Amino acid sequence: LLRSCPDVSKIFIMMRSKKNKSASTRLDEIFKSPLFSRVKKEMPNFREKIVPVVGELYEADLGFTKGDTDLLTHEISIIFHLGASIRFNNDIKSATTLNVVATRAMLNLAKRMPNLKSFIYVSTAYANCQVKHVEERVYKYLINPEELITLVQTSSENMINETLSGIISQWPNSYTFTKAMAEMVVKVNGERLPIGIFRPSIVTNVAHEPLVGWGDNYYTMMGFIAPISKGLLRFVMCNSDCNASVVPVDITINALIASAWDVFNQPQRRGDKMLIYNNVSTNDAPLTYGDFFFYSQISCQKYPIKSCYWMPTLTTIRNKVIFAICIWFGHLLPALIIDTFGRCIGIRQRMWKSYKQIHDFCKAVEYFTVREWTFTDNNIHAIWQSMSESDQLLFNFNMKGFNWPQYWDNTVKGVHHYLLKEDLSTLEASRIKSKRLYWIHYATKFAFILIVVVFTCNLLANIFL
Ligand SMILES: NC(=O)c1ccc[n+]([C@@H]2O[C@H](COP(=O)([O-])OP(=O)(O)OC[C@H]3O[C@@H](n4cnc5c(N)ncnc54)[C@H](OP(=O)(O)O)[C@@H]3O)[C@@H](O)[C@H]2O)c1
Repeated sequence: LLRSCPDVSKIFIMMRSKKNKSASTRLDEIFKSPLFSRVKKEMPNFREKIVPVVGELYEADLGFTKGDTDLLTHEISIIFHLGASIRFNNDIKSATTLNVVATRAMLNLAKRMPNLKSFIYVSTAYANCQVKHVEERVYKYLINPEELITLVQTSSENMINETLSGIISQWPNSYTFTKAMAEMVVKVNGERLPIGIFRPSIVTNVAHEPLVGWGDNYYTMMGFIAPISKGLLRFVMCNSDCNASVVPVDITINALIASAWDVFNQPQRRGDKMLIYNNVSTNDAPLTYGDFFFYSQISCQKYPIKSCYWMPTLTTIRNKVIFAICIWFGHLLPALIIDTFGRCIGIRQRMWKSYKQIHDFCKAVEYFTVREWTFTDNNIHAIWQSMSESDQLLFNFNMKGFNWPQYWDNTVKGVHHYLLKEDLSTLEASRIKSKRLYWIHYATKFAFILIVVVFTCNLLANIFL
């Protein structure tokens, strides 16, 4: 927004204070990231346009002071509502408060804004994951959001769980459930607003700009790449033929900005005809989980890291029993041996704990790696068609012909550099270590197969001879 729309006069960012840091301090720390180097060069005074507004989604009025509420009401013309609890397994009460009640509060605030031109609620392409083909419409469910809000605000945890058990079982977690409920809130409460729902699928590191490969979290695919690079994650429960609908964050943001423009341009699309955008890659740049793991494994081997424990290899498994065996022999048993050995010689090892985190992550996303969805994305294509050539260049979100091998190569390097803080100058030293790990890996594999063959032969000989 800052670089592409220089006429934007101010950007208000709702931000809470956290870990004893004020909203303003947190914002200053965010702008220290190399991600912002380009905007600093191109717009040296950009910081003057950013106004942090202290807010808290847990609070009924979003925690804004009266002064801030008045300011926002009069100044704002475009809202992007992204604030949410994205923890998959938050308890229903918290997830509903953050994702549903806060969205309703944001809509109520928006209704008081005389200059509002566009409001985009950011949902997720998986909010309605109980349908196999997701259309660009709001789905209806057995419970309406007002009933849900009343339930969580007036009942005990047991009562909430009991009442919702039959309904919520359609979703894999409280995150997707409350996102679906929030979409219904938007539909009902946003009837008269210039509003649209934007649904990205799996958002990953930067593809093109401002900084290729950049990312700052272990969510989504980066949660796999980091432990694969370290040689820790070697088996994943996954159907490698299933679609992985991944969209890089810069492409997502370009489409998000364009959707705000589109909502303003289409005043006839209000109420029941509200614009909904499925921001996915499945139709224009299909990618399977098998492709993703193949490309990222190749790149992890190409750019070995200093802190790796084993050669990066990954096997995808569909069968639960085989997966459990592989996890025990390939992950947990070595972890137990290393931790125990480390304790004996007085070196504290945390292999078991690391595996707990890795397995928790894999378990949380397993629902999505063993299934696939198809999506209608006509509204996103329609925006692209209605944009001028210069806007298409500035806000490029066209994924046709997207180069996935190159993208995963850059993303792997980005994860190593920005997340794992690997120094690229140590690459040569890491390559020497990697060669050693390669031989150790294949020698261990050979020894393991030999043991299994000898054991089986002995067993058969004892039975039949
Ligand atoms: N990442 C994806 O793959 C993906 C895919 C589809 C849709 N989305 C949607 O995109 C949006 C952004 O998600 P993200 O992935 O960028 O995650 P994120 O970085 O965790 O963004 C969530 C934001 O909500 C804020 N927030 C959470 N609780 C709050 C509270 N109590 N009060 C005030 N602010 C609060 C967080 O602020 P703090 O920094 O203070 O915690 C954070 O800035 C979400 O609506 C998510 O559903 C994400």
